[in-house]
Amino acid sequence: MTLEIRPLSDHLGAEALGVDLSKPVDPETKARLNKAFSEHSVLCIRDQDLTAPQMLDAVRLFGDVFRQHNTRFALPECPEIHYLSNQDKYEDGKRYIPGAGYHTDHSNDTEPPKATVLFAIQLPDTGGDTQYVNMHAAYEGLPDATKKRIDGLRGVHVYQSKHSERKLMGLPPEALAKVPKAVEHPIVRTHPETGRKALYLNPIRIEAIAGMPEEEALSLLGDLLAHAVQEKYQYRHKWRKGDLVLWDNRCLLHKANGDYDHSQTRYLYRVMLKGDRPV
Ligand SMILES: [Fe+2]
Repeated sequence: MTLEIRPLSDHLGAEALGVDLSKPVDPETKARLNKAFSEHSVLCIRDQDLTAPQMLDAVRLFGDVFRQHNTRFALPECPEIHYLSNQDKYEDGKRYIPGAGYHTDHSNDTEPPKATVLFAIQLPDTGGDTQYVNMHAAYEGLPDATKKRIDGLRGVHVYQSKHSERKLMGLPPEALAKVPKAVEHPIVRTHPETGRKALYLNPIRIEAIAGMPEEEALSLLGDLLAHAVQEKYQYRHKWRKGDLVLWDNRCLLHKANGDYDHSQTRYLYRVMLKGDRPV
């Protein structure tokens, strides 16, 4: 079999067929997969059958593993991999849907992960899609006056913004101690590989814009988010068992959908890759 890359929409996402990541990958295939990731921002490698250590090896084709903040979800036999499951509950017994609401992962880190990788182990019969927003396209679609207004602005990211509608699972105290209290990142960042500009928003973690009154900042952030999540900037991934999907946190928002039968289990492995400080 030979590797084939096919676009999944006209502006975002590609699927890779004809590669088996449980076996050693030659340098040319590795380079083509990395190029596809860089060009399409979401790369879905289909039909994989991987153990946890094999998934780690596959993910390392694209970079170094980032240590995730909340160790509660680490696999005991392979702690660099975390799991996502709809069977987890909040302390009050309510079901916890990981990743609901648009966000980008761990943006409260000084060097947030460049990519997140999910591997579908068990899926509901229907639903549970992951939605992505192309933040390059969203930035490019802004009026020039808005681009000027937001040029140079810095968002203040914390573990959980007091303005966030979604509540995260609490971090254990020893994990919280390792997370910076607040970090500033530009609202418009430049992709280190392609040089393209992207909006860098995160309604779950941005609590303020540095030097801007709260009311004005919230109104601006709300307007930017409403603009970004328009359907024309979205790609919606319908999962198949065996999908290994990696996406670029530097230029995308993503969210999970809880729109499926929760008596069915949705279970995926998650790994993140180290990134640079946003500029
Ligand atoms: Fe996420």
